[in-house]
Formats: sequence, C-alpha cells, structure tokens
Amino acid sequence: MDERLKANLDAWNMMAGIHAASREYRLAEFRAGENVLKPIELREVGDVRGKSLLHMQCHFGLDSMSWARTGANVTGVDFSDNAIALARSISAELKIPARFLQSNIYDAPDVLHDQFDIVFTSYGALCWLPDIKRWAEIAASFVKPGGFFYMAEFHPLTQMSANHAGTTKLEFVISYFHTAMREDPPGPDYSDRTKIVPETHEWMYRLSDVVSALAAAGLRIEYLHEFAGCIYQHFPFMQQENDGLWQIEGDPIPTIFSIKARKPLTEQR
Ligand SMILES: C[S@@+](CC[C@H](N)C(=O)[O-])C[C@H]1O[C@@H](n2cnc3c(N)ncnc32)[C@H](O)[C@@H]1O
Repeated sequence: MDERLKANLDAWNMMAGIHAASREYRLAEFRAGENVLKPIELREVGDVRGKSLLHMQCHFGLDSMSWARTGANVTGVDFSDNAIALARSISAELKIPARFLQSNIYDAPDVLHDQFDIVFTSYGALCWLPDIKRWAEIAASFVKPGGFFYMAEFHPLTQMSANHAGTTKLEFVISYFHTAMREDPPGPDYSDRTKIVPETHEWMYRLSDVVSALAAAGLRIEYLHEFAGCIYQHFPFMQQENDGLWQIEGDPIPTIFSIKARKPLTEQR
C-alpha cells in the first residue's frame, strides 16, 4: 500500500476507537435503537427495503447498520481493521444483519465480486482518496445496471476557509483550485479534542472533479444538490437551527452536496 495511505490507515485505526467512545458518533443512541443517518440521505436515498446496499468507507458501521435497520441488505467496506472489527462486534451484539469487509477501497474489486442496487458513501470520504477517477470507476463497477450511486459529502468550499477556534467569519486561505495533497499535522481528533491523532494525508476535489469522474465511469448524473446547513459545527461562528443543522448567517456558501447517479440498464459509454 502507498505510504500515505498506510499513514492514514494508522490514524484511522486509532480514530475508530476514539470515535466509538465519543458523543459525536452516538453509539449509545444507536444501541438504544436510533437510526443515526442524517435527514438529507434518508430523504434522498428513499425506501431501501429489500434492496442490496454497499457502503463504501463505512467506518465502524453505524450508518451501514442504520440502512440495515430501515430494511436494506447491507455490505460495508473500510480499510481500517479496527473499524471493521468494531462494526462486526456491534452487528453481532445488536443482532443487526450486515456484512463488513476490510479492504482498501482501491483493492475492493479483488475481494468483493457482487453488484448492488445502491452504492452509498458519505461525509468525510473523498478527502482520503488519492485518485478520484479510479474511485469513481470502482464505485460504478459495484452498481447493478438500473441501480444508483448516491453520496452526501462536505462541500469543497468548506475546506478552503479557516475554521480554528476564534475564527469569526469566512476567511479563504486555500484556493478552490488547489487540489494537491495536504499533510495534516498531528492534532486533536474532531470528535474528541482531548485525543491526539497522528499526521494524515488528504486531498481536496472540486465539484467538477467529482461529477466528471462519476460521469466518465458510465454513471448518468440525476442530480447534484447543494445545502447551506451543515451536519456539524464546522466553523465556530455557525449557529444551530431548529432542524439541527448548523448555518452560517446569511447562508453565503453551501456546506454539503449530494449526488445521485444511475447506471443505465445497457452500457452507454
Ligand atoms: C470520516 S469516515 C466516514 C464516515 C462515514 N460517513 C460513516 O459512516 O461514519 C472516513 C472513513 O474512510 C476510511 N478510509 C479512508 N481511506 C480509505 C481507503 N483508502 N480505503 C477504504 N477506507 C478508507 C476510514 O477508515 C474511515 O472509516
């Protein structure tokens, strides 16, 4: 495995345990029967009863098992062995049927030979991927003809502005066109700031990179949606609204986007 991905894997193996113990990931609520998916994907993916669903980069599986709770036959893939071990143990403990596979997403076609009605990925997945075109080809290869790919992800505009404590307004510090790899030095984990995670390597993609990669992989884009409200307080100056989402006053930028893209019944490439 690429050295940068190896370093990310070490960090994610540490983060799996930190996140499972954090309030942010809501494991206690999940154990009590709650669905931890966000309203955006629940509404946009719609009825999954009886459908096969692949969750790419499933972390320790709470979103995957929430889809299982709503009726999907779920497979989750993640490269973190700690995350997959946790997902399997929660699945066994709560008797939620789901299959979890440990694999680098770029090697997933070697270990997973099925196709799915729905291929899903969400929040915080893209920035770990060094090759967006290959990622899109792999995602598309897992969609059954007639099925769809869906993603909900943080908007690249949120990555351009400083968000450290004390920031009071949007301050663009990175160009939207700066897509080179970034090294994130060791620092506090985002869900538990008392825990320090090691250096990671991250990539930023423009919306055009994502849409073009999916289209080039043979998927037909049904929509690209942009949302002002964020699922967590990304900037210290965000306010939480009644719907639970975090807004910047005046909604100056989108903070989340979603894409639905369908695989044609016959290949049209
Ligand atoms: C922010 S989390 C995604 C969280 C997700 N929204 C959820 O269900 O909780 C990012 C995940 O990507 C995984 N990941 C990062 N790089 C990967 C790779 N190359 N292959 C597979 N998984 C990877 C990490 O292990 C981590 O679980």
